[in-house]
Amino acid sequence: MVDAADIVSEQMRAAADVVLDRWQRDPHALVQVLRETQAVTHWLPRPLLAHISAALGLTLAHVEGVAGFYRFFHTRPVGRTRLLFSDNITDRMLGSEALLAQLCARLGVAPGEVDAQGRFSVDRCSCTGLCDQGPALLVNHHQVITRLDAARVDALADLLLAGAPVEQWPAEWFDVIDGVQRADVLLSGLAADAPTLPAVLAQSPQALLEEVAQSGLRGRGGAGFPTARKWQACRDAAGDLRVVVCNADEGEPGTFKDRVLLASHADAVFDGMTVAARAVGAQQGFLYLRGEYRYLLPQLEEVLARRRAQGLLGRDACGVVGFDFDIAIHLGAGAYVCGEESALIESLEGKRGTPRIRPPFPVQAGYLGRPTVVNNVETFCAVAHIARRGGAWWVGIGTAQSTGTKIHSVSGDCARPGLYEYPLGTPIAQILDDCGARDVQAVQVGGPSGACVPASEFNRAIAFEDVPSAGAFMVFDHRRDLFEVARHFARFFAHESCGLCTPCRIGTELVVRRLDKLAHARGAGSASAFDIDRLHDLDIALHSGTHCGLGASACNPLRDTMRHFGDAYAQRATAPQFQPDLDLDAELSSARRATGRSDAGAHLHTDTPA
Ligand SMILES: Cc1cc2nc3c(=O)[nH]c(=O)nc-3n(C[C@H](O)[C@H](O)[C@H](O)COP(=O)(O)O)c2cc1C
Ligand code: SF4
Repeated sequence: MVDAADIVSEQMRAAADVVLDRWQRDPHALVQVLRETQAVTHWLPRPLLAHISAALGLTLAHVEGVAGFYRFFHTRPVGRTRLLFSDNITDRMLGSEALLAQLCARLGVAPGEVDAQGRFSVDRCSCTGLCDQGPALLVNHHQVITRLDAARVDALADLLLAGAPVEQWPAEWFDVIDGVQRADVLLSGLAADAPTLPAVLAQSPQALLEEVAQSGLRGRGGAGFPTARKWQACRDAAGDLRVVVCNADEGEPGTFKDRVLLASHADAVFDGMTVAARAVGAQQGFLYLRGEYRYLLPQLEEVLARRRAQGLLGRDACGVVGFDFDIAIHLGAGAYVCGEESALIESLEGKRGTPRIRPPFPVQAGYLGRPTVVNNVETFCAVAHIARRGGAWWVGIGTAQSTGTKIHSVSGDCARPGLYEYPLGTPIAQILDDCGARDVQAVQVGGPSGACVPASEFNRAIAFEDVPSAGAFMVFDHRRDLFEVARHFARFFAHESCGLCTPCRIGTELVVRRLDKLAHARGAGSASAFDIDRLHDLDIALHSGTHCGLGASACNPLRDTMRHFGDAYAQRATAPQFQPDLDLDAELSSARRATGRSDAGAHLHTDTPA
C-alpha cells in the first residue's frame, strides 16, 4: 500500500520550501504560503499541509482548517489547468451557462470534475468583477479571459485538448479594459500640477485629519462610516504600532470599480493610504487584494517598488523624519466574507476568514491586536484628492449629507456598461439614461446586499440619505424574471456563508430550498402562500439574528423583490392550501431557536464604536 506521505513528492516539498523561505516562515503569512505553493503544486495534499504546518510551527488542524475554508484552495486533486466560470447573474444574462455546458461537452467533463488524465477541471466561481466585459473565466486563479462567446470557447477547447500551455493562448483573450464611460474627479486622476505627496505630508497629522473631517467623507465600502471618525478612534486607541489596510476584496457581485482604480489609479490609492498612516500614526500598511484580481499583482508591486525608490514609502517616508511606513500586498483566496473588515484581518493573520466578535473594534484591536484602520479602495482614492484640494472643495460636490462623488459599476441590460462617476445625489434615472438602458424593470443598487429599486422609484437619488450604494448598479429590463434574480443571489449568499452562526448557515440554505420549491412549483400547484410566509419569517430570522453583515443582508434581494414584484412569487404559489414540507419547516424552527436574542447581530453591523 502507498503511504500517504508518499503522495507528496520531493518536488512538492521543495516548492513549498521556496515559498516558505520567501515569507520567512511567518505563520501569519499562511494564506499567502498556501496560495503560492498551490500555484506550483496545483493542489494541497494532506502530507504537504503537514510539511507546511511543521515549518510554520502551526498545528496541522489549523492549517487544514485554513486550506478548507477558502474556495481557491484544493485539498483534492484538480486539473493542471483549472477553469472557473464567473457566475454572477450578469454573466448568466450574457449566456455563461450555455458556454460552460459547451466547454464541458467538448472536454468530456462535468462541472466540478477533473478529466481522467488530470489535465483540466471546469467549474463555477462567484462574480469575478468583470461584469462589463463578461462572460468571464478565471484560469488557474491567476488570469482572466473576458468576452467569452461560442467561438472563443471552441478555440479554448481545441487548445486544452491539444495540451497547449496558457502562455500560447491568444493574448487578446486576456485583455481587461477599464471601460470608463463617465469620469468625474476620481476617474479623471490627479491633475498634473497637483501638490506632491511630500508637500501634502508636510502638514501635521492633526491638520490632515481635520481636512478629512471637514470633507464629510464617508466610507465607500458599503457601511458609509465617517472616515475621519474612524481615523480619530484609531489614533486615540492605546498601542505603539498601528496599521492601515486597504480593502480591495471587492467581492460584492456586480462591483468592479476598485479593479479599475487599482489598475489605473494605484498611485492615488497608495497616496490615500499614506495620508491615513500619517494621520493615525501607522507604520504598517496592507493592500488586501481579492484573489480574483491576482493578474493585477505584478503591476501593483511595480508601483510600490517605484514609490520606495522615490522615497514615498519606507524609512522617513516622503521626507518626514520618523515617519516609517510601507505597504505589503496580501491576496485573498476566493471568500466573499473576507471583505468584512474583521474577517479580512483574520485572513491577513493567516487564519480562516471568520468575522470577529466586536467590541473590540478593529480601530481598537485589529491586525495582531494593533489599532487598525480598514478603508475601501475608493475611500483612499478620495482621500488623495481631499488631502490636496481641501475638505471644503469636496463638500462643494454632492449633497449636504453625502459629499463628493461616487463611482458606479454599471452592468446588465444597457447599451454602454462600464464605470460611471457622478456627484452623490444623482438620480437613478439619469444613470440609466446615460448608460443606454431601455424598458428597465429594476436596478440592483449596491449589489445583492444592497437594494432592488423598481421603475416607480427611479427618481430616487444615489446618496446616503436616499439609496446608498457600495458601487454596483445592475440593470434588469422587462425580459428578466426578478424571482430568478433573487434566487440567484440567494444561492450566492448560501455559498458564501462562512458557517459560523446557525441562522446564517442554515437560514441561507433554507431560503434557497424554499425558493427552489417555488421555482419548480410553477403550474404544478405544489407551493402555496404558506411558502411565501416562511420566506418572510426567514428574512426576519436572518436580519435580526446573524453575526455579521453577510447574514444580515442575505435576504435583502428576497425582501425587495417580494415587496415590489410580488406577482412573480404569487404566480408560483398557486396551491389552494398549505403544502407542507416537513424537512424545511422543522429546520426553520431550529434556525429560529438558534437565533437567540433578537438583536444579537445588531452591534456587529457598524465599523467603529459610536
Ligand atoms: C460580507 C461583507 C463583505 C464586505 N466586502 C467589502 C469589500 O469587498 N470591500 C469593502 O471595501 N468593504 C466591504 N465590506 C465592508 C467592510 O466591512 C468595511 O465596512 C469597509 O471596508 C470599510 O471601509 P470604508 O469605511 O472605506 O467603507 C464588506 C462587509 C461585509 C459584511
Ligand atoms: S452571518 Fe454568516 S457569514 Fe457572517 S459570521 Fe455568521 S455564518 Fe459567517
